[in-house]
Amino acid sequence: MPWLRHLPANVRNIRFLLEGKAKTHAIYDRIVEACGQRLKEKQKVFKELQEQKRLQRQLEKEQRRQSKEADPGQEQIEADEDDEESDEEDTYEPECILEHFLTVRDTDSQLYCDDQLRHLLADLFGAGVDTSLATLRWFLLYLAREQRCQRRLHELLLPLGPSPTLEELEPLAYLRACISETMRIRSVVPLGIPHGCKENFVVGDYFIKGGSMIVCSEWAIHMDPVAFPEPEEFRPERFLTPDGAYQAPPQFIPFSSGYRMCPGEEMARMILTLFTGRILRRFHVELPPGTEVDMAGESGITLTPTPHRLRFTKLPAVEMRHAPDRAVVQD
Ligand code: HEM
Repeated sequence: MPWLRHLPANVRNIRFLLEGKAKTHAIYDRIVEACGQRLKEKQKVFKELQEQKRLQRQLEKEQRRQSKEADPGQEQIEADEDDEESDEEDTYEPECILEHFLTVRDTDSQLYCDDQLRHLLADLFGAGVDTSLATLRWFLLYLAREQRCQRRLHELLLPLGPSPTLEELEPLAYLRACISETMRIRSVVPLGIPHGCKENFVVGDYFIKGGSMIVCSEWAIHMDPVAFPEPEEFRPERFLTPDGAYQAPPQFIPFSSGYRMCPGEEMARMILTLFTGRILRRFHVELPPGTEVDMAGESGITLTPTPHRLRFTKLPAVEMRHAPDRAVVQD
C-alpha cells in the first residue's frame, strides 16, 4: 500500500536504498570511464594495425603489378585476391558487453544512454555477484564438511592441469552435481523475487485474485521430501543417473522459472564451474578441528552462510594417487 512508505522505518529503508544506489552508480561510472579509456586505446591499436595491413597489401599489389607487366598471364589471380581484400573485417570487434554498449552508446537514445548503462551494470552486479558468491561460499562450507564428496571431486580434478579450463570442467558430471546439490540444499534466493498477478487466475485448486503478490518458495520445493528424500542430507548423487550422467529433476529451480526467470543462469553456471573446479583442483578444504558449524545461514535478500574459518591446504601438482596423506582426509 502506497502510504506505507511514510512510516518512519520505511522512510529510513528507502533513504538507505537511494543512498546505496547513488554510491553504486558512482562506482559504475568509474568502471565505465576506465573501460571507455581502454576501448579507445584498443580501437587506436586496431586502426594502426589495419593501416599497416593496408600498406602491406598495397605494397604486395604493386609488386604483383610489376611482375604482371613482366608476365601478363597472372591477371586472373590478382582479381581474386582483390575480392578477398574487400571481405576483411575493418572495424574493431568489442570483446565484452560493456565494450558493446560503449560502441553503440548514444546520449539521445532511450536505450543506449548512460542511465540504461548504469541499470545494466546494476543488473549484472546486483543480481549476479551476491548470488554467485553466496553459492560459492555454501559450496565450500558443504564440501569442507562432506569429505567423502570432496575426495571424489579430487579424484576427478587432480588428473587435470593446475588451472583447468571450462571445457575440461564442464564434462565432470559429479562436479556439476555437487554445485546443484549446494543450490538445492541452500537456495540462495529462497523466496525468489516477488511477482504480481494482473488478473484473477486459477492454478490447480487455487483462485488467485488479480493484484495479489505471488511468491515462489524455492525453499519449500527444494526441501520437499517427496522430490528430494531426506532433504537436509547433502547428496550430489541425486543429480546423477545410474550410469553417472548429470540429470536435474524438474523440481530443481534455483533460477526460478517462467518468463522472468534468471537470465544469468548460463553465466552463473560457468562462473561456479570454473571457481569451484579451480579451487578444488588446487586445495583441500576443511574445517579446523573444533569449529562449530552453522548451516542455517543468514537470510536477507539472499541466504548466505555465516562467516566460518576454513583451512585450505595446497594440493600437489601431480595426480591424486601420488599425493601425500593430507589430500585424503578421513570422514
Ligand atoms: C547462483 C547464481 C544465481 C542465482 C541462484 C540466481 C537466481 C535468480 C532468481 C531466483 C531470480 C528471480 C527470477 C524471478 O523473478 O522469477 C533471478 C533474477 C535475475 N537474475 Fe539471477 N541468479 C544468479 C546469477 C545471476 C547472474 C550471474 C546474473 C547476471 C549476470 C543474474 C541476473 C539476473 C537478473 C537481471 C534477474 C532479474 C530478471 C527479471 O526480473 O526479469 N543472475 N536470479
